[in-house]
Amino acid sequence: MSKSPEEQHPQKAFGWAARDKSGVLSPFKFSRRANGDEDVTLKILYCGICHSDLHTIKNEWGFSFYPAVPGYASLNAVITLVLDTLGQHEIVGVVTEVGKKVTKFKVGDKAGIGCMVGSCRACPGCKQDSENYCPKMILTYNAIYHDGTPTYGGYSDMIVVEEHFVVRFPDNLPLDAGAPLLCAGITVYSPLKYYGLSEPGMHLGVVGLGGLGHVAVKFAKAFGVKVTVISTSPSKEKEAIERLGADSFLVSRDPKQMGAAMGTMDGIIDTVSAVHPLMPLIGLLKYHGKLVMVGAPDLPLELPVFPLIMGRKIVAGSCIGGMKETQEMIDFAAKHNITADIEVIPMDYVNTAMERLVKADVRYRFVIDIANTLKSP
Ligand SMILES: NC(=O)c1ccc[n+]([C@@H]2O[C@H](COP(=O)([O-])OP(=O)(O)OC[C@H]3O[C@@H](n4cnc5c(N)ncnc54)[C@H](OP(=O)(O)O)[C@@H]3O)[C@@H](O)[C@H]2O)c1
Ligand SMILES: [Zn+2]
Ligand SMILES: [Zn+2]
Repeated sequence: MSKSPEEQHPQKAFGWAARDKSGVLSPFKFSRRANGDEDVTLKILYCGICHSDLHTIKNEWGFSFYPAVPGYASLNAVITLVLDTLGQHEIVGVVTEVGKKVTKFKVGDKAGIGCMVGSCRACPGCKQDSENYCPKMILTYNAIYHDGTPTYGGYSDMIVVEEHFVVRFPDNLPLDAGAPLLCAGITVYSPLKYYGLSEPGMHLGVVGLGGLGHVAVKFAKAFGVKVTVISTSPSKEKEAIERLGADSFLVSRDPKQMGAAMGTMDGIIDTVSAVHPLMPLIGLLKYHGKLVMVGAPDLPLELPVFPLIMGRKIVAGSCIGGMKETQEMIDFAAKHNITADIEVIPMDYVNTAMERLVKADVRYRFVIDIANTLKSP
């Protein structure tokens, strides 16, 4: 019999976890490993709520996530893993312990953890600072760590992570509004750079003005790019332009507006969390334009091929970013005063927050005040 989450490791920990597909979170006791020589321990202060947490706690992505997990051939084991999940991978905290080989951090430093806590460190991806594309990348939650135990995310009081996967958090960046950058920020920053969409003067479309979308607007504006938001919510137009700095706004369900903008964009970053038509988006691109998918709907999307062929257009994807680039992104954000627009909530509001996230009723990221509101069960 494998050990219970409380007995697996020597350090006691607690948080909130979902236990079944309803996705309802409730208090949960578990344990964390002892701080090793290359580890950093954080007392968690804030955590953003990413839509991926919602997909995960409701098991919307099914098991497609897991086939690569070694040693978890048993479906029951996988189910337990999915259902006992603690979400959260936009974690900011203060360092409380460092191992003797740690060089970047000392006790008392502010630090951040994003979506990854491990990788093989030897494959081509890892060697080229793209640990996010390592076949053995270990996610911050809902994955199996090197030692064979599940990883648990940041809806919790503390976390132990290998130094390589911890980000230095700049002093001038607010802890709460900076937390979402650790997933939402890097997920949009990395493709903007990689696909050459961060060059000043380019025209970028941002589809879906949610957690990822609103920071995409802010990064793109800081790069000097012209930004058009493409949204299903006409009510977001005023703030997209006045508060977030977008240059224009299209209602994606208005064929007239969409038609008038055909062939005008160099690239589009698509952050939509649900199934939606790609044809109108491909139509917005100039020839050679790039549609980059970062949103992760649970079902496949239909891909019309003719408009791609006719304009030699590209449809691509992107997954978070490597650790070096995550540090670069957060330093860039600090320099350009880029933070998320947040609604800070107490831990026991999390289930209501998830319901509101389903309805896209958040401007634009929930962040849980862990330090002040997470109570030991
Ligand atoms: N690739 C990666 O590495 C990565 C990393 C993090 C998250 N993700 C994924 O990215 C997606 C977005 O995450 P998020 O946290 O930004 O979510 P979010 O805050 O819920 O934002 C998603 C936005 O998509 C739009 N939308 C929702 N339902 C729609 C529908 N049926 N049709 C068209 N538009 C719709 C809404 O914007 P409007 O109201 O403006 O239409 C909504 O605000 C999720 O699928 C998440 O899992 C991927
Ligand atoms: Zn995320
Ligand atoms: Zn690797």
